[in-house]
Amino acid sequence: MSAGPVIVLGAGGHAKVVIELLRASGHEVFGVLDADPTPRTVVDAPVIGDDSRLESLKAEGVTHAFIAIGDNGLRLRLGRKAQRAGLELVNAVSPFARVSPSARLGVGIAIMAGAVINAESDIRDLAIINTGAVIDHDGLICEAAHVAPGCALAGDVTVGQRAFLGVGSSVIPGRHIGEDAVVGAGACVVHDIPASALAMGVPARVTGRV
Ligand SMILES: CC(C)(COP(=O)(O)OP(=O)(O)OC[C@H]1O[C@@H](n2cnc3c(N)ncnc32)[C@H](O)[C@@H]1OP(=O)(O)O)[C@@H](O)C(=O)NCCC(=O)NCCS
Repeated sequence: MSAGPVIVLGAGGHAKVVIELLRASGHEVFGVLDADPTPRTVVDAPVIGDDSRLESLKAEGVTHAFIAIGDNGLRLRLGRKAQRAGLELVNAVSPFARVSPSARLGVGIAIMAGAVINAESDIRDLAIINTGAVIDHDGLICEAAHVAPGCALAGDVTVGQRAFLGVGSSVIPGRHIGEDAVVGAGACVVHDIPASALAMGVPARVTGRV
């Protein structure tokens, strides 16, 4: 399936994975925009400028965009900016992920290899479900949240806008992670985590604010 040429924003490690996923789904990657516009390639895709090029790309035949930037707030802002520039956000979904047919997916989402998204989960725009992460039934992953590699979210877990769950963290059923919260690697969340809290450990305790 090809949706027309895709511009990728971001040139780091996350962008490499995304570009390969987009190509594997039949997309043509037109090029990469990065804050550092020095000409170079990212897994063979050329860096063609910085974000200021975004507005002119539709006239050059680019129809789609993917925001491959780890910073959750920035990813959300640039995603909306790309949409205002007339570009559609594509999803980058690994053929080795398992997404339930009853799950709802927004746009601009990355779902990496080995991820599992179970029944009636709702993955909103610009979220990242990273390698091997599990979102069990009825999960709600809000806009631009990032669930890092190897996370395990039990059923009915909500992750707020722009929240980040560190690698290998887990969440027991029904808990809410507030917007902009950060959960440390390996934490086990057994209580709700407030918005903008930094939490870590087993069980996870709030240790500060982000
Ligand atoms: C939780 C986290 C955000 C804290 O970052 P930070 O504020 O820079 O923390 P520091 O490295 O300064 O460590 C502060 C203290 O917290 C402890 N700490 C840090 N991360 C911890 C974690 N995940 N679990 C338990 N304790 C942790 C440190 O040991 C240190 O304690 P000490 O002062 O007694 O030695 C970070 O350590 C983390 O876990 N990030 C996840 C990264 C990740 O998963 N990335 C995936 C990208 S795909």
